[in-house]
Amino acid sequence: MARKLRREEDKTIGLVPTMGALHEGHLSLVREARRMCDVVVVSVFVNPAQFGPGEDFARYPRDLTNDTTKLSDYNVDYIFAPPVEEIYPKGFSTYVSVDGLSEPLEGAARPGHFRGVATVLTVLFNSIRPDFAFFGQKDAQQTLVVRRLVRDLAFDIEVVVLPTVREQSGLALSSRNAYLSAEDRRAAAVLYRALSQAREVYMEGERSPKRLAETVRAQIESEPRARLEYVGVADAETMEKLDRVHEDRPVLIALAAHFGGTRLIDNIILQPARPKSRATGRLASPGEG
Ligand code: PAF
Repeated sequence: MARKLRREEDKTIGLVPTMGALHEGHLSLVREARRMCDVVVVSVFVNPAQFGPGEDFARYPRDLTNDTTKLSDYNVDYIFAPPVEEIYPKGFSTYVSVDGLSEPLEGAARPGHFRGVATVLTVLFNSIRPDFAFFGQKDAQQTLVVRRLVRDLAFDIEVVVLPTVREQSGLALSSRNAYLSAEDRRAAAVLYRALSQAREVYMEGERSPKRLAETVRAQIESEPRARLEYVGVADAETMEKLDRVHEDRPVLIALAAHFGGTRLIDNIILQPARPKSRATGRLASPGEG
């Protein structure tokens, strides 16, 4: 496929950037892109620049035939699956860093990760020139980094973020779930249980980030197959670390944990309760991002 999509005037282009191994989470983005846009492009590219040394770049699941079959039900216009040299030609030496937002939590755990994400998205955005780009809330920090990238580099793109898709157990869908043994897959449901428990505690009035994080930690530590790497509580829009959860701002609780050799991430966003409705006198409940 040509590096640059020739634009047909008046047609909106929606890009769903993926690393393949497509699951229902990706497909929910594709469905929304199909609903919103005239032309839908799904990119499938396992981006070496966002993996650190010793991470799973080499074994990341790759099955373009299977991905193409899955996409055949969605009337996608283009699948863009470039070889590495097309994105990173010989001598490639320009990288994009989104300072600040990229630094805590996932950025601290995976140095250089968001630089790789911002760089590949810059290349994809410039190559495909989408009007809309679709991302999942499961990568909460990534969505903030992407929004900032788009704003700061003046891309004329609307970033659309859709809710995390979960298995019935609560486990967030992820291409990396394919690595899990049956036992670990069952055990990994603890992540969402832990986040949900923190949400309950928050709804009961807890506003200490430390105690919210402890709630998550205690749940996860009760699962012997889980090894928690981090749990962080931050402002859901700025990623600032909080001393106290503000009543009027959404808060992100994000975590990474290992099950055997598999590293998973998950998060929830706690929305501040809206003020009492005069009509009902009831409090609106905080939702999940
Ligand atoms: O979320 C992902 O799958 C990747 O980080 C992305 C956005 C496709 C960039 O490689």
